[in-house]
Amino acid sequence: IFRFTLLSTLAIGSYLTYEIYRESNPRKQAPQSLNLANGQKRKTLIILGSGWGSVSLLKNLDTSLYNVILISPRNYFLFTPLLPSTPVGTIELKSIIEPVRTMIKRCKGEVKYFENSVQDIDPISKNITLNDGKIIDYDYLVVGVGSKPTTFNIPGVIENSSFLKEISDAKEIKSKIFKNIELASALENGDPLRKKLLSFVVVGGGPTGVEFAAELSDYIQQDINKWQPELQNDISITLVEAAPNILPSFNKELIQYAEELLSSKGKIQLKLNTIVKEVDSNYLKGLIKEQNSDHMEHIPYGVLVWATGNAPRDICQSLMSKLKQQDSRRGLLINDKLQLLGAEDSIFAIGDCTFHPGLFPTAQVASQEGKYLANIFKRLHKIERLAFEKKIRKIEIPDFKYKYKGALAYIGQDKAIADVVTFGKTYPSAGSLTFYFWKSAYLTMLSSFRNKILVALDWTKVSMFGRNSSE
Ligand code: FAD
Ligand code: NAI
Repeated sequence: IFRFTLLSTLAIGSYLTYEIYRESNPRKQAPQSLNLANGQKRKTLIILGSGWGSVSLLKNLDTSLYNVILISPRNYFLFTPLLPSTPVGTIELKSIIEPVRTMIKRCKGEVKYFENSVQDIDPISKNITLNDGKIIDYDYLVVGVGSKPTTFNIPGVIENSSFLKEISDAKEIKSKIFKNIELASALENGDPLRKKLLSFVVVGGGPTGVEFAAELSDYIQQDINKWQPELQNDISITLVEAAPNILPSFNKELIQYAEELLSSKGKIQLKLNTIVKEVDSNYLKGLIKEQNSDHMEHIPYGVLVWATGNAPRDICQSLMSKLKQQDSRRGLLINDKLQLLGAEDSIFAIGDCTFHPGLFPTAQVASQEGKYLANIFKRLHKIERLAFEKKIRKIEIPDFKYKYKGALAYIGQDKAIADVVTFGKTYPSAGSLTFYFWKSAYLTMLSSFRNKILVALDWTKVSMFGRNSSE
């Protein structure tokens, strides 16, 4: 037992030392050049975006085979699954981002990074135009620009609500929540404005809306009720959902479990079958669908968070309008090899910016697609090298096969739900143990060792001292 313990401690210690060294030091990189060592032209591969799809591609790609250029307005990768924990301070924003600059310095070959947005893609001339007017030619282009929040053009949404997609959104929500709590604290008990300021409304009962509402409820139960109990009677959280149930992608038993837990003791008021039709600066107008009659209800709010899903970005709409094969309004159409329909020879698209039956807008799909493309670029390089050296050998390009690994969602009070996939079968799981599974799954999924440590520390801090309720 002693030897085993000693050996395992040594093995774990060496692994951790290696990981820390690898992460904290740049790698010696092959520089970019016109030609490869055998005289063959080195092709330019442009990757758009620094999200789940593009970063997974970058981390798995042999960047010494191409002149790789990464373009994204966001100079970091954001671990979105923990974003709903940030507006109430359960997790610090810095703990879930990984800088692009350090990521590219760990690649095998040099990668150029431009902090910029792509404004135009010309699939015929094979070039892109950046926001500052700079034009860059490509041999291959990977579009991984994600999506924007959808509002369904409902009046007043953009002006009055906050989304929860980016770091800036989380900061905005945090600031609104804390501002309203302070404003309400300054009012006399019984002042009707207090109730309004402390009415937190979330629209959209998908995983984003549910996880955020759950985090907010934890914050109120565990922190506000302890430090500012005088506000207790005036605070409310309402989750508004157009469908008869929340979390439609989960198993039915899990949905019921989640609905019961969220609404237990009136912590969160679930307004199901309620379609928001309009928003003004004080109220939502919700159409409530009932068996015999539909009616409109005014729902007052102090802070409004809007989480009703995704819509294509302008850059994707513009690209779609240039290719007649792109006849869907839901996203870029791709084939089974993730090639963009209409520009199969040079453009690939991955992640939330695409629309393909069976592939959902999740981090899981995007990261598997990125990994698959890294392998495809290796094969494409081999095909081109063999052709250059006039050698004949057939190399297949396999189709992308998505492997569903299950789904997880945090539903508050240290409980989570999960569809766990084991040996190809899906099993529902819910409760406190699932919450520890949720935590360990996310710690494992965080790709950087630094982020794993920071997130684990954040969770420990909250369990010891509560949340940091200042900005
Ligand atoms: P993104 O990750 O959104 O990245 C897009 C990138 O493109 C960004 O870097 C952006 O700055 C960049 N970009 C935008 N416009 C341009 C432009 N014009 N030019 C160049 N670059 C551009 N999925 C799960 O599987 N599990 C979860 O638990 C989960 N939780 C989530 C929680 C929240 C709050 C949210 C919002 C989403 C969650 N998702 C989850 C979904 C998941 O985050 C997305 O499916 C995933 O981010 C898609 O990856 P992507 O690479 O396509 O896009
Ligand atoms: P979503 O599309 O999953 O859910 C949006 C919800 O808003 C739907 O239930 C819809 O009925 C409702 N809605 C739409 N319009 C409405 C209106 N006018 N009034 C009231 N309700 C309305 O969007 P979400 O949650 O942002 O997720 C986006 C993607 O990210 C999904 O693919 C999701 O699976 C993924 N995701 C996964 C997470 C996880 O696995 N834990 C966490 C967060 C997101």
